[in-house]
Amino acid sequence: MGTKPLIEVLNGHRQEVPPIWLMRQAGRYLPEYRAVREKAGGFLDLCLNPELAAEVTLQPVRRFGIDATILFSDILVVPLALGRKVEFQLGEGPKLEPLADGAALASLREVADQNVLRPIYETVSRVKAALDDRTALIGFCGGPWTVATYMVAGEATSDQAPARLFAYREPDNFQKLIDRLVETSVGYLVGQLKAGADCVQIFDTWVGVLGPDQFRHWCIAPTRKIVAGVREQMPGAKIVGFPRGAGMMALPYVEDTGVNAIGLDWTIDRQFAREQLQSRVPVQGNVDPLALLAGGAALDCEVDAVLQAFGGGPFIFNLGHGILPDTPIAHVERMLKKVRHRRA
Ligand code: CP3
Repeated sequence: MGTKPLIEVLNGHRQEVPPIWLMRQAGRYLPEYRAVREKAGGFLDLCLNPELAAEVTLQPVRRFGIDATILFSDILVVPLALGRKVEFQLGEGPKLEPLADGAALASLREVADQNVLRPIYETVSRVKAALDDRTALIGFCGGPWTVATYMVAGEATSDQAPARLFAYREPDNFQKLIDRLVETSVGYLVGQLKAGADCVQIFDTWVGVLGPDQFRHWCIAPTRKIVAGVREQMPGAKIVGFPRGAGMMALPYVEDTGVNAIGLDWTIDRQFAREQLQSRVPVQGNVDPLALLAGGAALDCEVDAVLQAFGGGPFIFNLGHGILPDTPIAHVERMLKKVRHRRA
């Protein structure tokens, strides 16, 4: 088997040209994605259709020759597998039946419904079979805190107040919810790794609202359990953590969770990240998605700053969060060219 640059980096080996992939690289900014999305019906229908989900997973590889592709699915298939209603209304984002208090926990399934997760494993196998031996396939799940914020509120919120209130008012019940998500996520990630994912990423998008003690409790501790649980069944499994907005808590996150690498958002101080984080684990990131949307000098400047900060060590080039739907494809091409042709 050939070596995959992304996996080389996760093993701690700097690559002359950093491997590149982009969060949300399959999505509405691509006309070929919009075409399949229309054919599929709803967004969840697309996630649960192995043929079409594999097709959109592969689109960025075909168009950009990107170094890694991420399974096309969503973090909210986990609540779906736990028996919650989940819907995506066009232009509105996700809607779930809110989990208002501890009493509602009784309605959660004890174990995930494999009828929901099986098609996703099949997508992984199909993509794996279609990839060459240098392109990595990334599986993923949401961080338990982030998934819980959607389950509790029933929708995206600006400050995740419903989940934070639940955690203050009923810490024991909130812990039960987190534990259920930890167990389910372990099984879900192991299923993806067995189906052929080369590594997995844990997306904890909404941990930036947590104070330090809560961050340890609701982000670091559950993530550590997921990492240990996955490695118990799949020794040596490669796991990337993305605690968006962690700020200085990124250091204890790296020290205490056991992740192989950390994904950085664009708000982190890059000198801190290089000295304190990249000295411990490979880093991934962290171009501001709005700089990519803007393009031109702002984009060039941002790309240079990212390469300057992290190019000297084990590094995966990426955005600091998902690509925005209005992003011009030409800007993505310009960025890729710049990274690939940089002087060492
Ligand atoms: O290319 C990829 O990154 C792979 C697929 C992927 C999606 N969602 C597809 C998607 C991944 C890895 C996710 C993760 C995800 N989903 C996260 C964590 C990462 C992040 O972006 O913060 C979160 C918080 C979700 C929940 C979610 N899914 C929201 C809030 C929304 C609505 C907002 C939006 O962009 O529309 C989604 C929908 C979603 N997930 C889309 C895609 C391509 C857009 C749906 C569409 O095509 O209409």
